[in-house]
Amino acid sequence: MTNTPQLKTALPGPKAQAIIARDKSVVSPSYTRGYPLVIERGYGSMVEDVDGNVFLDCAAGIAVNSTGHAHPDVVKAIVDQAHKFLHMSGTDFYYEPQVRLAEEIASIVPIQGGVRSFFGNSGTEAIEACLKLARYATGRQNIIAFFGGFHGRSMGSLSLTASKAAQRRGFGPLMPGVYHAPFPDRYRCPLGSTPETCAEACVDFIEHELFTHLVSPDEVAAVVVEPIQGEGGYVVAPDEFLQRLRELTKKHGILLVADEVQSGMGRSGRMFAMEFPGVEPDMIAIAKGIASGLPLGIVAARAGLMAWPPGTHASTFGGNPVACAAAIATIKLLKDQLVANAADVGAHMMSGLKELAGKHPLIGEVRGRGLMIGVELVRDRQTKERATDERDAVVSGAFARGLLVLGAGKNAVRFSPPLILTRAQAETAVAIFDEVLTEVESHRR
Ligand SMILES: Cc1ncc(COP(=O)(O)O)c(C=O)c1O
Repeated sequence: MTNTPQLKTALPGPKAQAIIARDKSVVSPSYTRGYPLVIERGYGSMVEDVDGNVFLDCAAGIAVNSTGHAHPDVVKAIVDQAHKFLHMSGTDFYYEPQVRLAEEIASIVPIQGGVRSFFGNSGTEAIEACLKLARYATGRQNIIAFFGGFHGRSMGSLSLTASKAAQRRGFGPLMPGVYHAPFPDRYRCPLGSTPETCAEACVDFIEHELFTHLVSPDEVAAVVVEPIQGEGGYVVAPDEFLQRLRELTKKHGILLVADEVQSGMGRSGRMFAMEFPGVEPDMIAIAKGIASGLPLGIVAARAGLMAWPPGTHASTFGGNPVACAAAIATIKLLKDQLVANAADVGAHMMSGLKELAGKHPLIGEVRGRGLMIGVELVRDRQTKERATDERDAVVSGAFARGLLVLGAGKNAVRFSPPLILTRAQAETAVAIFDEVLTEVESHRR
C-alpha cells in the first residue's frame, strides 16, 4: 500500500469517463461534483479510482470516513452483524446493538446526568428530530440558527440552513418561525467588530436585536449552532461565544442544540467540539463520522428532555443494526487512538499549512481544530477580497496532483481527512497544496 498519490492516466481516465457519461443521463443533476473522481476502492487514507489512479484522501467522503476506508475492525463488525440479521426496525422491536450504542453515546457526549438517544439515518434527520423534540418539550415554536450554517436539506433543516441561497432557491415557503443571527467569524466579523469583540457582538445581536425587535425569548424553543461551521468554511466559534450563548439560552429557558454532524466524533481532536468551551448543550446532533460511512444519524439529549411518548417520532431504518455495529466499532477506535491522532496529526498539519501562509499571499487564514482545517483564500490580505475562482482552481489542481480536498464556504479549502491520517501523509498533503498554490498564484501575475 502506498502513502503517496500515484497517477497512471490523465484525469478522468477512460473508465471514469465512461461511468460519468452514464451518470449524466440517469442520476439527479442536483449533486455538486467538484471534480471527476470515480472511486473503485479505498484503504486507509488512500483511494483508488476505476483506472488505477491512487489519491491521498483529505475529503473522507465529506468528513465521514472517520476510521479511514474499510478499516478491518469496522468491516468485521459489519460482516459479523450482517450474518446475524440486517434489519428488524428498532422502532418496533429490540436488539442489543442499538441499546449498546445508546449506552456508548451516553458515555461520550458532553451531557451530564443521563442521556437518551434517538436514531435516524442522516444528519438532516438528526436535525429534524432536534427541531421536533425542541418544540415538543418546550411548547414553543421558534428556532434561532446562524448565517453560514448548514444543517441539512429536508424542509425543517433547510429552514435553518443559511449557507448558499441555491440550496433554498425554489423550495419555499420554508418552515416558519426560524430566525438567523450572525455567526462570529473572527477573521471577517459580520458585524464589523474586531476579532476580540466579535463573539460578544454576535450574542448581543440575539439579545438586543432579535429579542427586542423580532421574537420574544419566551417563544423561542431552541438555538441551533455548529461549534465549528462546516459547509460555512470551517469557521471555529470562539469559546466565549458558545459560553455566552449557553448563559443566554439558560436565562430564557431556551434549549441549546449543538449540531456536531461534521465537527463531532473526534474530528476536532476531542470527541465533540463542544468540549473546548466546556459548554453542555441540551441536545447534540450526530451523523457523518459516527459509523465510518454507514448511514446513521443520532440525537443525544438530556434524558429528562427526551420524554416524548410512544408514537411521537420514529424512523423505520433509524438505528439499523449493521450501522449500529459499525458505530460501536468506530467509537472504540476513536477512543483507543483516533481522537488523539486527530489532535496530534491535526496540529502538525495546521502548522505546516500556517507555514505556507508565509510564502503564499493567497492564504488569508488557516483555522480549525484537529483534523478539521480550513484555509481561506483571498485576493488581497488587506481587503480580504474572496478568492473564489482561485479556490476552485486549487481544489481542481489538487485533484490533478492526486490530493482530494473539498471547498467550503465561498473561498475556503477544507481538509477533513480520515482520522487515521499519519504525519507523513499530512506532510504529503501540505506539499501538494504548496505546489498547487504556487501554480494558481502564477496565473494571477
Ligand atoms: C453540520 C451539518 N449538519 C447537518 C448536515 C446534514 O447531514 P446529511 O447530509 O447527512 O443530511 C451536514 C452535512 O453536511 C452538516 O455538515
